[in-house]
Amino acid sequence: MHPVLKWAGAIAVVTAVLVVMVPVFLYVASEAVIERRYPLPAIEEPAAPSPKTVERGFHLAQISGCSDCHGADFNGRLLKGAEPLRVWSSNLRLSAARMSDGEFERALRRGIASDATSLWAMPSADYAYMSEDDVAALLAYLRALGPAGPTRPRPVWDRGARLALLEGRIVPAVLTVRDSPSSLDLGPRYDGGRYLARISCGECHGTNLAGSLERNIPDLDVVSLYSRAAFFDLLRRGIGAHRRHIPAMMRLSSIRFHVLADYEIMTLYDYLDARAHAPPALLVREKANELRRRAAIEAQSEE
Ligand code: HEC
Ligand code: HEC
Repeated sequence: MHPVLKWAGAIAVVTAVLVVMVPVFLYVASEAVIERRYPLPAIEEPAAPSPKTVERGFHLAQISGCSDCHGADFNGRLLKGAEPLRVWSSNLRLSAARMSDGEFERALRRGIASDATSLWAMPSADYAYMSEDDVAALLAYLRALGPAGPTRPRPVWDRGARLALLEGRIVPAVLTVRDSPSSLDLGPRYDGGRYLARISCGECHGTNLAGSLERNIPDLDVVSLYSRAAFFDLLRRGIGAHRRHIPAMMRLSSIRFHVLADYEIMTLYDYLDARAHAPPALLVREKANELRRRAAIEAQSEE
């Protein structure tokens, strides 16, 4: 055979092998992550609901954004903004009826689905420290609504989504829970505000409330520019300091934050204002703690 033909033949064979192997590799490597089972932590059964609980659950579902993603009637829907993964928020009325208390707690606070795989677009990191009473209240509220509506599909892993997964652009919720930094701890006096900020502002401003440059979301230390009255106006009506209109917060005030009680807005303000004025020594200590935590996570994943 002519050497050129021989080479052409060899190249054709190699190309054919690659054409077959690359998608196989993409599939096998991503499937290992998608189908990974996580160890199930011991279940902390949520506390038994009291009569006030259902009301509290409804309030929490509004302020912490469940209804924002799972829909006003909690039936679930195709989520916008999670591309390239096509992911539906679950129908929580069906989930609450089907899941045990422990399964609900694991999904909500740890990002683990009932079959021990990870959830994907569920922001469990924001709820990782939600109190047992509040978890129980949410569950009691959803169960009180009763099952209704369609079952939503599982996420669709096409080639683009698998590639994004292997490149780290899509991260299992379980790992986001593990890796999300906390906001500054200012002691028990400010715990209430810190708690509220995590469950209701963390979704966009970050679990450490430091904002995001790429998404143009400010660090919540901007609250130091607000008087208490102006902060009330921001959360109740979406109007910023110096009467600036803030469309993103205006939408949120009308669907979520207008239901915040006065005392909740006060504790949020107290915490965010104190955080903005925190002494440098505290910030240095917090940074050191965070570095230590990261090192521990890295050491663990190398084992
Ligand atoms: C940013 C959007 C978003 C917010 C906010 C959100 N969820 Fe989800 N949640 C999802 C998505 C999407 C899924 C399912 C798909 C996935 O992530 O794998 C999900 C799944 C769940 C599941 C698992 C259900 C099942 O059947 O497996 C539970 C439970 C849940 N969410 C409860 C809540 C509660 C309670 C809140 C409010 C405290 C909340 N979610 C807030 C997006 C969200
Ligand atoms: C769903 C996403 C989302 C959530 C949840 C959210 N924010 Fe925001 N917030 C934004 C965005 C986006 C901006 C930037 C808007 C702009 O500058 O146009 C913003 C801006 C702000 C600002 C700056 C306003 C200014 O004067 O420039 C403050 C203060 C603020 N948010 C407070 C809060 C507080 C407090 C919470 C929780 C109670 C919260 N946000 C929850 C998305 C969010």
